[in-house]
Amino acid sequence: MDLQLEGKRVLVTGASKGIGLAVVRAFVAEGASVVAAARRNTAELKETGAHFIPADLSTPDGPRELVEATLALDPRLDALVNNAGGGDVPDGMFEDPLSGDDDTWTNVFALNLGSAVRTTRAALPALIEAKGAVVNISSTSARDPHTAPLPYSSAKAALNAFTRGLAEAVGRAGVRVNAVTPGGTRTNIMLSPDGYLAGVAANMGIEHSALLAALPDQSGMLTGSLIDPDEIARAVVLLASPTMPSAVGSNWTVHAGSVKSA
Ligand SMILES: NC(=O)c1ccc[n+]([C@@H]2O[C@H](COP(=O)([O-])OP(=O)(O)OC[C@H]3O[C@@H](n4cnc5c(N)ncnc54)[C@H](OP(=O)(O)O)[C@@H]3O)[C@@H](O)[C@H]2O)c1
Repeated sequence: MDLQLEGKRVLVTGASKGIGLAVVRAFVAEGASVVAAARRNTAELKETGAHFIPADLSTPDGPRELVEATLALDPRLDALVNNAGGGDVPDGMFEDPLSGDDDTWTNVFALNLGSAVRTTRAALPALIEAKGAVVNISSTSARDPHTAPLPYSSAKAALNAFTRGLAEAVGRAGVRVNAVTPGGTRTNIMLSPDGYLAGVAANMGIEHSALLAALPDQSGMLTGSLIDPDEIARAVVLLASPTMPSAVGSNWTVHAGSVKSA
């Protein structure tokens, strides 16, 4: 299937590993020219041939500076993937869902919502010019908020509202805005001893490896295993493709059956 992405110019945030890296690889495989942003480059990202621009997207100016640097190389932009996200697990989150001070909430919102808002704001004129696409990476915790720390679930729920509202606002200008919502996906967030799941395990007082092994069943994933980041990347690339002109304001959930509502 020709997704008509050959020669298209794409900006992917949070691109150095995990889902973002898989998205970069998928666009490169389609012949797109990819600009990849994260705070630090990785050997795996270098191998893709994508153009790396360092950026801290949780800062007020980081997203705008990233877009300016991207457009200084080439003023065209056909697709933006707002993937950077995550955040720390506040101590004691299971005893007190409001655990974490204002800074916890501010930082998680800055990364998971603010980065997408600011990057999209800066990129919008170029995306309108190209009649391009935005794909935001959400989380099933936006729909099942108890499955993650409340600041993170709340920020992703806000990202869903932003996605749908922006789709309405810019759809007639020819820019398609959609979201992809992954369930538990096999990335450092889950696998790393410093990652999100390890923090959850520490909060629960159990071994990270035990929680990791139990997670697919406990979270109701009917496949019995976490999702491969390449699967999420395929959904992103398809939504960004001009062959999907009617995919507007949608939110594609790839969750292995873990979301139990219709
Ligand atoms: N894995 C899952 O189970 C899962 C499920 C649902 C949703 N998601 C969402 O999927 C997205 C990707 O998650 P992942 O699992 O692939 O995470 P990951 O493996 O930890 O990768 C996160 C990426 O974001 C970058 N990043 C983090 N903070 C950043 C910042 N302040 N500025 C710029 N880049 C930053 C990281 O690079 P640097 O650290 O070098 O900056 C890295 O490239 C996130 O939005 C996450 O919320 C993941």
